[in-house]
Amino acid sequence: MIEIKENGFNPESIVQNGNKFLTGNGYIGYRGMLDEFGKAECVGLNIAGVYDGVQGKWRETVNAFNPLYMHVFAGDTSLDVRGENTVSHETSLDISRGIFSRKTTYSVRGATVTLRTERFVNMANKNNICSRTVVTSDKDMLFVFRVGVDTDIWELNGPHFKDVKTKLTKNVIEATGVTQELGRKVRVACEYSGEVTQFDNGFGLITAFVKAGESFMLDRLAYVSVDDEKVIRYESYDQALVEHAGAWKKLWRDCRMIIDGDERGQLALDYSIYHLLIIAPKGDYSIAARGLSGQTYKGAVFWDTEIFMLPFYLSALPDVAERLIKYRINTLPAAKEKAKYYGYGGAFYAWESQDGYDACSDFNVTDVFTHRPIRTYFKDKQIHISADVAYAILEYYNRTADDKLMLNGGLETVLECAEFARTYSYYNHIKDRYELLDVIGPDEYHERVNNNAYTNYMFYQITKRGVELAEKFKNVYSASAVKKLKEWVEKLYLPQPNADGVIEQFDGYFGLEDVSVETVRGRLAHPREYWGGSGGVATATRVIKQADVIMLFNLYPDLFPTDIQRKNYEFYLPYTEHGSSLSHCAYALTACRIGKPDDAYSAFLDSAEIDLRGGGKQWAGDVYIGGTHPAASGGAWMAAKAIFGKKGEWT
Ligand code: BGC
Repeated sequence: MIEIKENGFNPESIVQNGNKFLTGNGYIGYRGMLDEFGKAECVGLNIAGVYDGVQGKWRETVNAFNPLYMHVFAGDTSLDVRGENTVSHETSLDISRGIFSRKTTYSVRGATVTLRTERFVNMANKNNICSRTVVTSDKDMLFVFRVGVDTDIWELNGPHFKDVKTKLTKNVIEATGVTQELGRKVRVACEYSGEVTQFDNGFGLITAFVKAGESFMLDRLAYVSVDDEKVIRYESYDQALVEHAGAWKKLWRDCRMIIDGDERGQLALDYSIYHLLIIAPKGDYSIAARGLSGQTYKGAVFWDTEIFMLPFYLSALPDVAERLIKYRINTLPAAKEKAKYYGYGGAFYAWESQDGYDACSDFNVTDVFTHRPIRTYFKDKQIHISADVAYAILEYYNRTADDKLMLNGGLETVLECAEFARTYSYYNHIKDRYELLDVIGPDEYHERVNNNAYTNYMFYQITKRGVELAEKFKNVYSASAVKKLKEWVEKLYLPQPNADGVIEQFDGYFGLEDVSVETVRGRLAHPREYWGGSGGVATATRVIKQADVIMLFNLYPDLFPTDIQRKNYEFYLPYTEHGSSLSHCAYALTACRIGKPDDAYSAFLDSAEIDLRGGGKQWAGDVYIGGTHPAASGGAWMAAKAIFGKKGEWT
């Protein structure tokens, strides 16, 4: 058993613990919540790949009805952790088997009453969630369990369901609803091991008389299904648990990485891998930036998946890697449509993909002073997304030599991404070179810049390799289009290191104000003020949100000698705010290659412990922006592999 534990109850931690103690199976995510909690505490049962948009609001994945709602009473005393009669409380997550538990002791009119609950989202059955509750008392006690499928759910941009109905059949309470936009039918049912009485509006009562010193056990088997999908049911909690635990055992056998003699690092790494395992897709969808922890970032798929998470799956779970790659191949038509919309050829992938279509808003942030929306250009200008997708396909191919996938859309996708960059580029007649102007690199604080080094090099690399493969797999792409790409890429401008060995992040970056992150932070007039965009505190300075040039070195470690990588690392690190959870791991990876193991290790921990430590931004005004950080988990895994793979070099 590998356990994450917390003693005591702190109301301030409720929302963060929803992320920290998240359980999931790649299809369903269930936030780390207590049974008596509801909408106000952000209970969430998130379903992968089921999107809904309500007019005028952001489209997002849906949170389904909560089958595990339960409020227990001992006599007429409420057993709510927040009540005055709570004596002790303990929460834990066994990450070796994906089992969440709580144990709370109450003092009820002279009796000591204990409530224990455990639950798991079944890793062996994507539609199933199970829970077992055991109550004990040292005096005779009548327990009443108020149970039900709670349809009053937490949603960021809902309500996503219409025609919501509940019913009780034997000991099964069921809630059904239909999504507003696409009419998808969601059904959540919960089967109880006790008799449900007094059913009313989704809720009913189960009663049990427990003798002093004895206990009572209540099991709940819940099933979540979409569009009348058939679900496999269990006879008992124990039967489901055996299957679930077996699936976890196999996963850890395939995926665990051992770090000798470092308990803290090992736990942080195990926890990161745990998060990657609970979001690994079970179907033809991909992974959202906040995994299955909720609706933040609209449940959309970013470059996070290809660049930060894919390496783990490629190494440990190749089937999952293939699914992720196929998601991009299958959404090629949408990427071509997007390119066409902007007047380009090829494929311009969605910055925030929902089934391939861009969910990214034109106005991603709000001015904290005027409350007016701020125009951001992530969707329009963060073109590196297409290079990232192509890079991932090529990595997949390098690893698997899967010719079939390349012939069935893989290579075409790579070449369409290259073609997009070709048509996007500008030919500079004076310098006789192609340039990529008006883009946003990984550092989102500097929008609409020219010749972002990351972007130019990435397109250069994927085009070169794509052309090579097109010569191998003839007839995948038209010969004349390949020829054009070949000529174009030879003239694509690649920013070179300056006399100090530093590659300029984009044209004119060196001319920006040379100030530290702390100075820029000190200039904030409001703690939630946006740093980037047209008038942010970082915009006119060298301060960057996240690894940019440094990220390029991680993807193509042989492109520049170690000495150049070191000079860039030393140059850019002090300017990096790490305002994105994707940043620390990027520095960790470069630190490994340039002989800075201590820096690498602490950046690895910053990445791996992000959801253990909590902190970070949870709210932006009234909007919840928290959730888990799977890209940081993937980055932590890569960093651990790089650091501990070189253990001999540590002193
Ligand atoms: C980062 C992006 C990232 C996105 C989702 C943003 O804050 O700047 O690079 O893709 O979050 O994680």
